[in-house]
Amino acid sequence: MLHLELGEPGSGPPPSALRAAHAALDRAPLGYSEAFGLPALRQRIAQHYLERHGVDLEPSRIALTMGASGAFILAFLAAFDVGDRVALAEPGYPAYRNILHALGIEVVALPVGFAERFQPTPELLDRAGPLDGLIIASPANPTGTMLDRSELTRLTAWCRAHDVRLISDEIYHGITYDSPAETVLHHDDRAIVVNSFSKFFCMTGWRLGWLVLPEDLRQAALRLAQNLFIAAPTISQHAALGAFHDLAELDARIAGYRHNRDRLLAALREAGLARIAPPDGAFYIYLDIGDLGVDAAELSRRMLEEIGVATTPGNDFDPVRGHRFLRISFAADETAVAEACRRLVPWLRTRLAEAGRALSLG
Ligand SMILES: Cc1ncc(COP(=O)(O)O)c(C=O)c1O
Repeated sequence: MLHLELGEPGSGPPPSALRAAHAALDRAPLGYSEAFGLPALRQRIAQHYLERHGVDLEPSRIALTMGASGAFILAFLAAFDVGDRVALAEPGYPAYRNILHALGIEVVALPVGFAERFQPTPELLDRAGPLDGLIIASPANPTGTMLDRSELTRLTAWCRAHDVRLISDEIYHGITYDSPAETVLHHDDRAIVVNSFSKFFCMTGWRLGWLVLPEDLRQAALRLAQNLFIAAPTISQHAALGAFHDLAELDARIAGYRHNRDRLLAALREAGLARIAPPDGAFYIYLDIGDLGVDAAELSRRMLEEIGVATTPGNDFDPVRGHRFLRISFAADETAVAEACRRLVPWLRTRLAEAGRALSLG
C-alpha cells in the first residue's frame, strides 16, 4: 500500500531535535512551561523571523501551542464571537470550517478554482456579505498554490478597509519550489499568524505549533491558553529548540519533495491528466479528474483496491465541487512516490479510455 493520502513528511525529525529531547529527558522532571512556552524557544522563533523574513518580532507575541490545530482554537476564540462570519477558500483544509462550526462561528465559503489559482480575492470578498474574519493559507492545502506579494497586499488592504481580522496559516512555509513564501507580518500587524513544527520541521507527532499574536489579542489568548491547555508539551519544546540547529538539513529535504512533485506531474501528464492547481509549495497535487467521469471518492476507492495507491478525494476539502478532484500527497519518500507513478500511469490511462468509450456510447 502506498500512502499518497497523508500530509505527513516521509522523513522524521532532524537529528538535533532528537538529541535535544534525549538531553531534556535526562534532566527530568519536565514540568509545565510558561503558558506561552519556553522563553528560549519563543526567542529562537523570533530570531527565525528575522533571519528568514527580515521581520523584527517581540518574542512576547509568540505563543507555543499544541500544533497548528491548537493554535486555531486559541486564535478563533480570541478573535471571534459566536455568530461572527469568517470567510475561507473552498477547497481548503477541512479543520478550519469544522473548528469554526464547533465554536458557533459562521463559515462563509469562497468558491475558488483555476481562475483564482485557488486563492481568495478581494472581488470574492466583496460579494461575501458582512465579514468578521478571513483565513488564508499560502502555500495552501489541498492545492499547494501561493499568494504572491501583490496579492497579499491587496487582500490585507481589503481586510484593513473592512475591519476584518486576517488569520494566516503559514504551516507550509519553508516548503516552496520557486519563490519563498511571504509572511503576512510584512503587511498587517493586526493579523494572526499560525505555524507549526509539523511540516517543514517534520515533527508531526510532537504536537507543537505556534501563533504570532497581534498586541490587542495577546492578553485574551494568554488567558485562554492557560485555561484550555496550561501549556504546550515541554519535551516537544526542548526538541523544537534543538531542531533549529539542523535548518540546513531541513532545507535540503525540499529537494526530495521537488523531485517527487516533478515525477508525479510528469506521470500525470503521461497518463493524459493535465488540469492541476499550480503546486508552488507544500506537498500536494490537486488534480481535476472530471475527464474520468467518475466521483472522486469512487475513483480513490478503486485506485486503493486495484493498485494499492491511497489518495484523498476532493470532497474532504470542498463539499460542493470536490467530487471532481483528487488530492495526491508527495510527502512520502522517493521510492514510494516512484512506485506509485509506475502503477498510476497505465491505470489512469485505462480509466481515461473507459471514460472516452462511455462518452461515445452514451
Ligand atoms: C493547512 C494546514 N493547517 C494546519 C494543519 C494542522 O497541523 P498540526 O499538525 O500543526 O496541528 C494541517 C495539517 O495537515 C494543514 O494542512
